[in-house]
Amino acid sequence: MSKKTVWSVYFSATGVTEKIVKRTADAAAEKLGLPQRMFCFNSPASRREALSFGAEDLVVLGVPVYAGRVPNLLLPYVRDFIKGNGAAAVPVVTYGNRDFDDALAELCGVLEKNGFQTAAAGAFVGEHAFSRVLGAGRPDEKDLCLASDLGRRAAEKISAHDAEKMSGGSVPADDSGSSGSVRVPGRFPPGPYYTPRDRRGNPINILKARPKTDAAGCIRCGLCAVLCPLGSVDIDRVSEVTGICMKCNACVKHCPAAAKYFDDPGYLYHKKELEEIYTRRAESRIFL
Ligand SMILES: Cc1cc2nc3c(=O)[nH]c(=O)nc-3n(C[C@H](O)[C@H](O)[C@H](O)COP(=O)(O)O)c2cc1C
Ligand code: SF4
Ligand code: SF4
Repeated sequence: MSKKTVWSVYFSATGVTEKIVKRTADAAAEKLGLPQRMFCFNSPASRREALSFGAEDLVVLGVPVYAGRVPNLLLPYVRDFIKGNGAAAVPVVTYGNRDFDDALAELCGVLEKNGFQTAAAGAFVGEHAFSRVLGAGRPDEKDLCLASDLGRRAAEKISAHDAEKMSGGSVPADDSGSSGSVRVPGRFPPGPYYTPRDRRGNPINILKARPKTDAAGCIRCGLCAVLCPLGSVDIDRVSEVTGICMKCNACVKHCPAAAKYFDDPGYLYHKKELEEIYTRRAESRIFL
């Protein structure tokens, strides 16, 4: 069936994944001359509803890499609530200049299990959520051009595939030798989550870290409470983190008064280690 709609579907706490997914979807929609729709699953409420697609949809679906995987707190939503029913998918992950490990393979695998046909995929570098230095300025123009390239080439591949199917011919195989899935680096089922370690190899526990609020600087706008993807910031007392914190840094990076910060020693140590070790430029990659 020919495609009728190109979708941008994403979680994006600090805005990196949103940029990449939208650029990819824009290029695909332009190539196919199709309208676009968008679904952001940042808010807890957005993740309570099922999302169902069909063979007429092309879905660019993106998440950030957390600990080398699809974020563990988002996995249940992606796995249990997003159904493909034969839709074409372009899975995308973004990562903070370290590595995407098994995250892209995991996202592709989960979507394929959910009835999507993964036509193409990408792993893109963005500024690390923990840092202003690591991956600073990413995605840059080169990354965004690659995202456009991914969208265009995925659209070409999908329309050739659909045309072949409608004419009753044999469906051309992709690089992986199969017609319905893209081959990407990493394992599915994925390995364990990446554990932050110090230079002597001892694990660093950042699970308990919570953002603090500079009461003198805070202008009580409430944005941190509105944006927290886990609904964990109390809107009436924004210095209170009442639930789980995934360290996504939405509250830190979007605060208009720069009043949110982490001071947990393990978190700050890990952030500094990452900034010192991963100074080289990691390149974004696409897979078709
Ligand atoms: C809890 C957490 C774990 C992360 N783990 C990794 C990682 O394993 N590798 C990496 O390169 N970047 C890692 N990052 C950085 C994010 O993948 C990166 O900042 C991403 O582009 C953020 O996307 P967003 O702006 O759409 O939320 C991590 C970020 C967070 C918050
Ligand atoms: S976003 Fe910043 S300024 Fe606004 S309420 Fe939260 S901490 Fe205060
Ligand atoms: S409190 Fe934690 S989970 Fe909520 S926005 Fe801030 S960093 Fe993200």
